[in-house]
Amino acid sequence: MTKETRYAEASMEAMYRIFTVPEAPGSTLGKIDQKLSQNIAGFLQEHIVAVEKDLEELQKDFSDSEIPEKPIFVSDQADFLMDKLVAQSVHTASPSFIGHMTSALPYFMLPLSRIMIALNQNLVKIETSKAFTPMERQVLGMIHRLIYQQSDEFYAKWMHEPGHSLGSFCSGGTIANITALWVARNGRFDKDPKQGFTGIQRLGLYGALKHFGYNGAAILVSERGHYSLGKAADVLGIGRDSLISIKADANNKIDMRELKTRVEQLRREKIAIIAMVGVAGTSETGNVDPLDQMADLAAEIGCHFHVDAAWGGPTLFSGKYAHILKGIERADSVTIDAHKQMYVPMGAGMVIFKRPSLVSSIEHHADYIIRKGSRDLGAYTLEGSRPGIAMLLHSGLKIIGRAGYEILIEQGIEKAKAFADMIRQEPEFELVTEPELNILTYRYMPAFVRAKLSTATPVEVDQIHEVLNRLTKRIQKNQRARGKSFVSRTTLTPEAWDRRRTVVFRVVLANPLTSHDILRDVLAEQKHIASTNACEQCMQELHALCDDRPLRAHAV
Ligand SMILES: Cc1ncc(COP(=O)(O)O)c(C=O)c1O
Repeated sequence: MTKETRYAEASMEAMYRIFTVPEAPGSTLGKIDQKLSQNIAGFLQEHIVAVEKDLEELQKDFSDSEIPEKPIFVSDQADFLMDKLVAQSVHTASPSFIGHMTSALPYFMLPLSRIMIALNQNLVKIETSKAFTPMERQVLGMIHRLIYQQSDEFYAKWMHEPGHSLGSFCSGGTIANITALWVARNGRFDKDPKQGFTGIQRLGLYGALKHFGYNGAAILVSERGHYSLGKAADVLGIGRDSLISIKADANNKIDMRELKTRVEQLRREKIAIIAMVGVAGTSETGNVDPLDQMADLAAEIGCHFHVDAAWGGPTLFSGKYAHILKGIERADSVTIDAHKQMYVPMGAGMVIFKRPSLVSSIEHHADYIIRKGSRDLGAYTLEGSRPGIAMLLHSGLKIIGRAGYEILIEQGIEKAKAFADMIRQEPEFELVTEPELNILTYRYMPAFVRAKLSTATPVEVDQIHEVLNRLTKRIQKNQRARGKSFVSRTTLTPEAWDRRRTVVFRVVLANPLTSHDILRDVLAEQKHIASTNACEQCMQELHALCDDRPLRAHAV
């Protein structure tokens, strides 16, 4: 801290005060509170400093490992947070922050989230959440209906049925995917009293494989599957090597021929296939697997079909684009994140189960809590204590409504298409992946490089690619450091470039406030950065490799 830290006396009275007495309106915390309530956008704009500071430098403010012995004043801590944390955070709500999946929130989320925090309900059981439990069950029912479109009678029967659940609300897509595959694994090796098998829940994976005479277990997903599936394979004891990565085609969708070949091979090797995972909106390119064909194959071999729609699931709100997810309604389970395209603050993910009894394979009880036959949702979640964040999705679903989400989803997809057109019209950029949903990738490629690449030998293409990869990284890092706008970066292996590792800019268009002008500015800034000293070395190498005349002057 720059200012001298003031310490208070730790006393029972002081402890009592922090639980009961609010900060005065004129205090630092009182002022922050007021500004946040009146104008969040202005608050963020004013307090986040758009200047890149070295992480090493930032670390210095967080280097003391000693817990302070004496309490400090709330206002001093608020000052410290504003100065060292808020100022140096990322302006994710900015309309020119178009690199990631968690972005701006609707205004109403802030006051509503304060209610949630004030109430501090724990959804593990009804005793600590009361009306929050039926509310969460209703939200799971609404999302189930969005995916599976069952009848009114179905929801009347199952939404609040003790011993059943239409899904599991959790902190995000990772836990949702783990939960789905946990259900799939346990369902695959469920107890079989006639055969004296008490179930994988009790005997573990080794016991299950031994009992059924398998040499191993596997989960199949395209190479574009999210890394959380690797964690799931690890946690579930299957092992990361048994998460079988299937080649994606030129459109980043799972290659069905290779999937079928691998399935046959695994069956010959007596490897139990626990699940097949379809991706509905890959994290890097936003593409959707052929879900219908995958559902056919899963039905044919009798394995669990999970769809990871953490990102793309809300496309179902769109009358125009929902068809892209055709086949999702045949999945046994679906992951969907409310903290992505449903504009809820982070910590809101879900896995939805087609059949309300599927969760029975992971059901657990404890005598003092989540009793058998209760409606407690903690019986079907990996996590224990959980906040009432479903309340914010409940609010989003009502305040935004299906038609509102439809507008948000469609504007994102259409803006991505318009941005792709803009990139195509620019001779200095290459569109690497077309947007199927609202994600696209591209890279900087000067016209003279493009001309050379059309006639270059494979070795020359390799060399040029290597420099282009470094150049893309430089431009992306520089743009981030300037703090005006932000796109993310990833590495793809496009078929158009014979699967060479290709570093690309990745753009996610979810913030409705991102305008076409902002997108034009992003490209203009990238072109400018490419002409500065920061990129001089790469540009000279490209000129040399492309037999083009060397550069002379560079802007700074
Ligand atoms: C397709 C997909 N699945 C799963 C996840 C993991 O979600 P979370 O970060 O909420 O755990 C993501 C996150 O980006 C994702 O894009």
